[in-house]
Amino acid sequence: MLPNKLNDMQDKLEQIKKEFIESIHRMTNRAGLEELVTKYVGRKGILTQAMRQVKEIAHEERPRIGKLANDIREEVERMVKTARQKFGDTAEAVVFDATVPGERKNLGHVHPLTIIQYQLEDIFRQMGFMVLDGPEVESEYYNFTALNIPADHPARDTQDTFWLRDGNLLRTHTSPVQVRALQKHGAPFRGIVPGRVFRYEATDASHEHTFHQMEGLMVDRDISIGNLVAVMKALLQNIFNTTVDVRLRPGFFPFVEPGFELDIKCLICHGTGCPVCKRTGWVELIPCGLVHPAVLRAGNVDPEIFSGFAFGLGLSRLVMMKYGIDDIRLLMSGDLRFINQF
Ligand code: DAH
Repeated sequence: MLPNKLNDMQDKLEQIKKEFIESIHRMTNRAGLEELVTKYVGRKGILTQAMRQVKEIAHEERPRIGKLANDIREEVERMVKTARQKFGDTAEAVVFDATVPGERKNLGHVHPLTIIQYQLEDIFRQMGFMVLDGPEVESEYYNFTALNIPADHPARDTQDTFWLRDGNLLRTHTSPVQVRALQKHGAPFRGIVPGRVFRYEATDASHEHTFHQMEGLMVDRDISIGNLVAVMKALLQNIFNTTVDVRLRPGFFPFVEPGFELDIKCLICHGTGCPVCKRTGWVELIPCGLVHPAVLRAGNVDPEIFSGFAFGLGLSRLVMMKYGIDDIRLLMSGDLRFINQF
C-alpha cells in the first residue's frame, strides 16, 4: 500500500472516532445508544468495516495502524459500557417522564418555641400590643436596679447570674425591657418582649441555663388586676384552644405590687394530681402583678397618673405544657429526632 493510502486509513479511523464521540455525547436514551452501537461496531458497522481494511495495508505498517484501530475500538466499547450504565437496563426510549414525582427538598420548619412565640405575638398584636426586643447582654442597672432590686437586695440571689468581665451580665429575665420600653415609648404603653434569658444554673429536667420568656407590659390610666386576668385568660385560651381554669396566689417580685403567681389547672391530669403538677393539680405558669411605682418612675412615667400590669411568661414552660414535653433540655438540644415531631 502506498504511503498516502496509509495516511488515509489513519485519518479515516481518527474521523470515525471523532464522529462517534460526538454522537454518543448527544445521546439521551438507551434506544438511541443501541442504534449507535450497531452503526459503528455492528457486523456491518463503520468501525468494523474500517478494521477489515487494515488487512490491506502494507505489511510493515500494519501493526501500527492495527494498534490504532484496536485502541479506538476499545475506547468505543468503554464509552458504550458507561453510557449503558447511565441509561439503565431498559431499552425503552424514555427521554423525560413528566409523571415521575418531583424530588422533595428537606426545607426544615419552625422550632416549637418559635411556633408558640409567633402564636402569642399574633394574639397580642390583636390586643394592640407592640412586639419588642431587648439586649441579651444587659447592664446591672436595667436587669436589677431599675426593677427595684437594689445591690444588697436578697432577690438578686434568686437569679443566678452570668457576669461578664466588663460588669455587664447576661439578662436573667426579660423584665429589663419594661423600663427600656417605657423610657423609649412613654405611657400609655402595651407591649410584649419574647426572648432568650440566662441563668447560672445546674441543669436538670426542669432547669436550663438558657431558656425563653415572654414579658408583657400594659401601662395606662386605671389599669387593674381585672385587666391583667382578662388578658391572661385570652392568652391561655388561645394557646390551649380550651377554657383554662386559673388562680392567683400572692407572689413576691420587687418590681410589682401586689405580685402574683398565676397558676393554671393542670392540663395533663385536669386537676386530679400527676407528676407534672407535682400532685397539686395546678401548674405555676405566669408570675405577674401591678407595676411597682419605682419601675414606672425609672421609665419616666408618673405613677400618680398611670398604673399598669406586667407578667413574665415562661415561654419554655408553656411550650412544654402545650406539647407534653417532660424535659426542658430537649428544647435546645438540636436533636432532630425531637425537633422533627413538630
Ligand atoms: N422576671 C421574673 C422572673 O424571671 C418574672 C416576672 C414576675 C415578670 C412578675 C414580671 C412580673 O413581669 O410582673 O423571675
